[in-house]
Amino acid sequence: MASLKTRFTDLDFVNPFVLASAPPTESKRKILRAFEAGWGGVVTKTIGLHPVENVAGPRTIFQRSSVEKPYVSRNKRADTVSHSSWNWELISDQPLELWLPDLEELKATYPDRMLIASIMAGAGTEEEMRNWQKLAQACVNSGCDAIELNMSCPHMDRKDMGANIANDEDIIRSILGAVTAAVSVPIWVKLTPSTSTLVDAAGAAYEAGAAAISLCNTFPSLPLMDPETDKFEVEVDGLVTSGGLGGLAILHQALQRVSDISKAYPDQAISGIGGIRGFREAYNFIVHGAGNLQVCTAAMEEKGSGGVGVKLIQELTEDLRDYMDRKGYSSIEDFRGIARDRIVEHSQVRRKSDAYNGGYEIAS
Ligand SMILES: Cc1cc2nc3c(=O)[nH]c(=O)nc-3n(C[C@H](O)[C@H](O)[C@H](O)COP(=O)(O)O)c2cc1C
Repeated sequence: MASLKTRFTDLDFVNPFVLASAPPTESKRKILRAFEAGWGGVVTKTIGLHPVENVAGPRTIFQRSSVEKPYVSRNKRADTVSHSSWNWELISDQPLELWLPDLEELKATYPDRMLIASIMAGAGTEEEMRNWQKLAQACVNSGCDAIELNMSCPHMDRKDMGANIANDEDIIRSILGAVTAAVSVPIWVKLTPSTSTLVDAAGAAYEAGAAAISLCNTFPSLPLMDPETDKFEVEVDGLVTSGGLGGLAILHQALQRVSDISKAYPDQAISGIGGIRGFREAYNFIVHGAGNLQVCTAAMEEKGSGGVGVKLIQELTEDLRDYMDRKGYSSIEDFRGIARDRIVEHSQVRRKSDAYNGGYEIAS
């Protein structure tokens, strides 16, 4: 029988499926349930040191489409299928001091599962660099196997945090410099997909010591307005701001960005995130080069599992094992990256005739 065991960034995973940093990993209770269900690891909800106060309304909505009337809406209708999540939730509001004993207990209870702490601080001052170090050291001392640096939250007011800094290679380098000097576990860097310089940002992170890039965080986006009520599907006092789109709707865009990084840095590690609902999506991330897979929206949407994807992890592992058995693969390394070289420049794709010169006239 095929083995789902995966070595990624020098860590041994019982399977490559990890719950992403989000509500499914916001508490000890949920993470214990996730490990019991079979997830290979979790990235905790992002832990920080700055004040956190969420909006006075729903933080997340789940948007669905239907065959009958295929518009996208959170409204309840018969026979709908999932389209996406939209959220404007901030990072964890549980303070670091309360996270630390929880992390210790989680690692002690499930030593074979990978516990990755997502952390976030600011940039531009020595004090903020010390904040990154403080967070990383505290989580590692409490048993975390790796650290994920959140440089990708798409809805931060502070200009020195989250997706607001992910364009700045100097800041990426300085944060990695501070964190790698403070701890010796693998450092994953979660980048935002919404920058035109993603490949350069990933290159800067790898060069500065990142063991992996985690991609994608949610895409900056707005919720929809209802034509009957002129209300946004989520708003507070009639107002809304940019939030993050996740789920199936971002799959193709996430894959393209993973492919871009994988082609530029084929020997480096990528944790693929964005729209994974089952084996087929996971397969697509693996063939573009991802060696680890993170899931959020699909786990949150599963009814009766407390939002940690109990059935989902069973299906993912069963379907992956079944696929590998059928194909005679012994590990995901046997098919990881097989699509990489088949993503080419537009002009390299065969034309109906030879009379094509990349959009230019053929010189006579
Ligand atoms: C409600 C919600 C909260 C999230 N909070 C965080 C967070 O604190 N830190 C983080 O790095 N990503 C956060 N994310 C992003 C997810 O980890 C993930 O990158 C994104 O949802 C895409 O994966 P998906 O398509 O499987 O949902 C959050 C996503 C959602 C829906």
